[in-house]
Amino acid sequence: MTRIVYVNGAYRPYAQAAIHVEDRGFQLADAIYEVIEIRDGGLVDATRHLARLARSLTELAIPPPMSDGALLHVMNVVIRRNRVRDGIVYMQVSRGAGPRDFALPPATTPPTLVVLARAHRRGWSAELAETGIAVKTVPDNRWGRCDIKTVMLLPAVLAKDEARRAGAREAWFVDSAGNVTEGASSNAWIVTPDGTLVTRQLDHHILPGVTRATVMDVAKTEGIKIEQRTFSRDEALAAREAFITSATNIVMPVVKIDKTTIGDGRPGKLSHRLRSRFHQVAEFSA
Ligand code: PDD
Repeated sequence: MTRIVYVNGAYRPYAQAAIHVEDRGFQLADAIYEVIEIRDGGLVDATRHLARLARSLTELAIPPPMSDGALLHVMNVVIRRNRVRDGIVYMQVSRGAGPRDFALPPATTPPTLVVLARAHRRGWSAELAETGIAVKTVPDNRWGRCDIKTVMLLPAVLAKDEARRAGAREAWFVDSAGNVTEGASSNAWIVTPDGTLVTRQLDHHILPGVTRATVMDVAKTEGIKIEQRTFSRDEALAAREAFITSATNIVMPVVKIDKTTIGDGRPGKLSHRLRSRFHQVAEFSA
């Protein structure tokens, strides 16, 4: 249960935490966010998440709401006051509030900052990883700057709904050339028949996942060959293994893509190895 939420300088009870009706995040999706895993009461990969937050703000010229040190402090207070041991921190920064206008407000407009923490049942993702998940492919109809973590998530919401209705847990976006870009809320990976780990190269079409970066660190320490390149839906269907990465899923094996079973239909060995090593390599700050 979320009890206390940080909003613009104050810690408020969940039901009373509110933002302005003309907040630009609400009206225009003029806002960015981060989701960070909480494990044993501490933050996983906070440095990388804060670096990506700073980059998203810079790309959109939204002023930082506070220093990284102050943000870490707020996150830790929210985690403690909600007594979260395992779960996530959700942090959102918008360009602030003001009469609705497409033109940017004065640069002095204070950004809106919301930080909340939510507990998850420990082990939910490990249990799901025992069987793996199905994904459904959908056309990538998002905008040209998916590298910025904006709250403009409607295409992802609809894609995930389409996936769920088809009995899948995640959607994989496929571009007009037939290449997989990423998941609705995760990065997409395959393992080729010769055992090479493949994930799409970073550009404006995908989010530079923090979990993606740490999984690459894990793969390097394990001596696994990695290729960052485009891969098609067809190549994914013929893959030995597939999985998704995100702060909430860590490494989640994919055992079915649309109607095609991946490998022998059970989570692959490499996915399992990366998942089990992940938290030994990731940064942990209590
Ligand atoms: N989503 N790609 C997209 C489109 C995402 O929304 C996410 C994360 C990722 C993985 O990024 P990371 O490894 O840094 O979590 C990739 C978060 C978890 C969310 O929206 O809830």
